[in-house]
Amino acid sequence: MRFVSIYGSPTPPGKLARAMGIAEDHVRQRDGWQVQRLASRPTDNPVVGLWDAGDVEAVAAADAVLVASPVFRASIPGTLKLLFDMLPNEALRNTPVAILTVGAAPHHFLSAERHLRDLLSWFGAIGAPNAAFFVDSTFKDEVVPQEAQDELAECVDQVVHLAERLSGLEFGPDPLTVRYARKQRN
Ligand SMILES: Cc1cc2nc3c(=O)[nH]c(=O)nc-3n(C[C@H](O)[C@H](O)[C@H](O)COP(=O)(O)O)c2cc1C
Repeated sequence: MRFVSIYGSPTPPGKLARAMGIAEDHVRQRDGWQVQRLASRPTDNPVVGLWDAGDVEAVAAADAVLVASPVFRASIPGTLKLLFDMLPNEALRNTPVAILTVGAAPHHFLSAERHLRDLLSWFGAIGAPNAAFFVDSTFKDEVVPQEAQDELAECVDQVVHLAERLSGLEFGPDPLTVRYARKQRN
């Protein structure tokens, strides 16, 4: 089965990427799962990274997804939103998706997550019930506290288990985008 992790930051891999690596390694240990990390290509603008058709295809083909986002301006980076805007409407329908967010300020623990949950609902994705948030300093050193490692494992276990048990099942009612498209056709 395919596990796709999305590195949602336009900046070079740092603390968020270290957290992702722990989550990805945990999935790799499970039989039957392949892990692929997607990251945007850098541009001259440090806050803009670009995605391509291969990234879109990988998300659409995933059995489970981890969206990893830094907190930028109490929300997600525009670069990550670019990827969501490139996805076909059905790309994440019925796909289990886990959320990992990292920010400098503990007060911003829900800020990126709530924006991501809006997006996942729009696509009819199966949002994992529990998101993981960390203050970025948790990952400042190569050795990461065991508690954080355990939480990262739990975070991705949610979507791995959901994907294994729910594979092939479809859930309604249709998300807004499907209903709207149907109305346009009639
Ligand atoms: C443009 C920008 C905006 C940011 N806005 C916030 C913010 O609103 N709240 C917050 O807690 N951290 C904010 N941060 C800090 C990042 O979330 C934090 O540095 C990042 O998650 C970890 O960076 P790294 O993975 O590149 O090491 C911001 C960082 C940048 C570059």
